[in-house]
Amino acid sequence: MLPPVARTRETKTRRVTMNFSESRRLQAKSHSIIPGGAHTYAKGDDQYPELAPGFIVRGKGCHVWDVDGNEFIEYGMGLRAVTLGHAFEPVVQAACHQMQLGVNFTRPAKIELEAAEALLEIIDGADMVKFAKNGSDVTTAAVKLARAYTGRDMIAICGDQPFFSTDDWFIGTTEMDAGIPESARSLTVKFHFNDVASLRDLFDQLPGKIACVVMEAEAATPPIPGYLTQVKELCEQYGAVLIFDEMITGFRWHLGGAQKYHGVIPHLSTFGKALGNGFAISALAGKREIVRLGGLDHDHARVFLLSTTHGAETHALAAALETMRIYREQGIVEFLWRQGKRLEGLVRKSIEENRVRDFFEILGRPCNLIFATHDENRERSQPFRTLFMQELIRRGVIAPSFVVSFSHRDSDIEQTAEAVHEALVIYRKALDEGVEKYLEGRPVKPVNRRFN
Ligand SMILES: Cc1ncc(COP(=O)(O)O)c(C=O)c1O
Repeated sequence: MLPPVARTRETKTRRVTMNFSESRRLQAKSHSIIPGGAHTYAKGDDQYPELAPGFIVRGKGCHVWDVDGNEFIEYGMGLRAVTLGHAFEPVVQAACHQMQLGVNFTRPAKIELEAAEALLEIIDGADMVKFAKNGSDVTTAAVKLARAYTGRDMIAICGDQPFFSTDDWFIGTTEMDAGIPESARSLTVKFHFNDVASLRDLFDQLPGKIACVVMEAEAATPPIPGYLTQVKELCEQYGAVLIFDEMITGFRWHLGGAQKYHGVIPHLSTFGKALGNGFAISALAGKREIVRLGGLDHDHARVFLLSTTHGAETHALAAALETMRIYREQGIVEFLWRQGKRLEGLVRKSIEENRVRDFFEILGRPCNLIFATHDENRERSQPFRTLFMQELIRRGVIAPSFVVSFSHRDSDIEQTAEAVHEALVIYRKALDEGVEKYLEGRPVKPVNRRFN
């Protein structure tokens, strides 16, 4: 017989005052002047329950405060960019110091070289690096380099992984492809993760056409042993460039990225997010033979590689330098794995106690935990995702994922675990009595959908 649901467990959770009146006022205004009401879709109102803070005014560590004065513990901060913590003092100081020296000059700043050296010390297989402001640009730049290097047009992407770039070659393959011409969409083809044959088939069906393979070395599912090596071998056999998108895995799986963790070095790799603890900085790194096409010392056709007005803003580079220093000296990656494991253990215990094992899953590596929600028929469910987030928010936790930072202390993890436990009590009731009885308002929706 199944154990009874724990209904009366002592709780340390603090219920937030459910006053979101200022959020509501600003939301109405915001949607009238910003498409979607936010400048990043993943932060938008359709991604959160109705009962959620609309706007944040400040953060410290892993805590944030909204416009109504409510305080929350946050997960996945800044779409996984803020790995050390909000307003993390040494990084803020490094950036401020640099700002006082000037943020952008007519000639390169010395710090551009210093940051390049620091990154190349960390990324074993890379000989050259170029910085930019966001992940999409560097991944697109890697694709452009691969096309120039191979003289081919087509791109093979891992179709089981959610995101690589805001640019047409990727967004054209999603549901949200309005405004993207067929000529751009038709150049990208998809293969399956952990399925070498599906990639080999593409190479065989499109001989001499595929310039590059774009993938994360690992997302929610780990690679089966030997898979990544086989992917690299296939790329080399068919003359394509292997690009690892390390936007999420970089500075989480290992200081040297998932490529170091799995021991497979791609020809090009791209970094962003955690690199600057939330400051806008990203990097394209890789083999000299390919990356040099963007430089001055060759006689091939020149590749216009990542050259923008703000690309090397000095304070973002200072933030990245300081972030890399802290990572090297303070064992940040080990901490992320340890705290994630701790939270995972507590959540798993609650899953068992609340008898939701078949309906609520915690997935991914401890350094990058996500959750999946299923309804009473065990189908993936957005209403149940919404309900779970709603009940966490009521208890002072904003968690679109359980991605921890260096600022998630033991007390934050324990408080979160209590909130999760109580949210899962409600979740169980909703499975038994119907989710609509407990959900306040409409459910969330996937970002990349064709219609609203
Ligand atoms: C795996 C991956 N690649 C690329 C990107 C694009 O990065 P950015 O949003 O900095 O352009 C993202 C963003 O979420 C991502 O998760």
